[in-house]
Amino acid sequence: MGTDYVLTKIDGQVGLATLNRPEVLNALSIDLMDQLIAGLERFDNDPHVHVMVIAGSERAFAAGADIGEMATASVVDMYRRNNLARWLRIKAVRKPIIAAVSGYALGGGCELAMHCDMIVASESAVFGQPEINIGVMPGAGGTQRLTRAIGKFKAMEVILNGRFLSAKEAFNAGLVTRVVPQEQFLSEAIRLAHEISKRPPMALQLAKEAINAVDEMALSAGLEYERKLFYSLFATEDQKEGMKAFIEKRKPTYKGS
Ligand code: CAA
Repeated sequence: MGTDYVLTKIDGQVGLATLNRPEVLNALSIDLMDQLIAGLERFDNDPHVHVMVIAGSERAFAAGADIGEMATASVVDMYRRNNLARWLRIKAVRKPIIAAVSGYALGGGCELAMHCDMIVASESAVFGQPEINIGVMPGAGGTQRLTRAIGKFKAMEVILNGRFLSAKEAFNAGLVTRVVPQEQFLSEAIRLAHEISKRPPMALQLAKEAINAVDEMALSAGLEYERKLFYSLFATEDQKEGMKAFIEKRKPTYKGS
């Protein structure tokens, strides 16, 4: 039996993946990433799961890629391993993902949180891209996603000077969905996931797709894309049920079809 670097469980319509390498602050080793991706893809393919949560511990969401695994690598090793290609599989997850962040979310840990669709942070959360301090730079999207989230001039300081952002600063800068007391970060992320999981699943997935298209498309193309996704939802039973229930003044029952 191998080690469980990621613990997964399903609670109602919510899939929870908990990073579990506490001795190294959940450093994102290749094995951990593979287990995380396998868990997220399992949730994505399970019709009972509508929303996912990725959580770390109170002390650390994740302190970055596993430095020990890269320290002596050559450029050829890095190209051959192509570890960063794994991140495309997280980006490809169709259902909404909420990051439950407490403590350190650094380097790849911050990038993992930014691959999620919402970030619930504890008051003790610390976000940063400190790769500059170990002779490199972000490699899993940090320069692109952080800049889009908080703007060029704040991102430059965080990435070029390795400065950490407190939960409050990250919230004020637009990186975080909400900040809660430390003892509530996980329960609040799960509560939010349960609330969202009651919405019609196809509409959730297509809305996520449309919002994420903002980073890929010009406005006119994005608006056209949104329109097509909107029209396509009229092929679902949940659209008929949602609108009928509104007119009949009752709660809708969604089937995900
Ligand atoms: N990789 C491997 N091990 C790590 C790690 C990482 N990213 N971060 C922490 N650890 C290990 C430490 O080596 C230490 O192990 P030992 O007990 O065996 O010595 C253990 O976790 C606890 O860490 P500290 O003793 O350092 O704890 P601290 O509270 O004093 O400091 C910290 C916490 C500020 C997060 C500090 O550990 C730190 O700076 N970690 C590295 C952060 C970093 O540089 N992340 C970027 C990695 S590169 C990357 O992510 C590339 C990318 O874009 C994909």
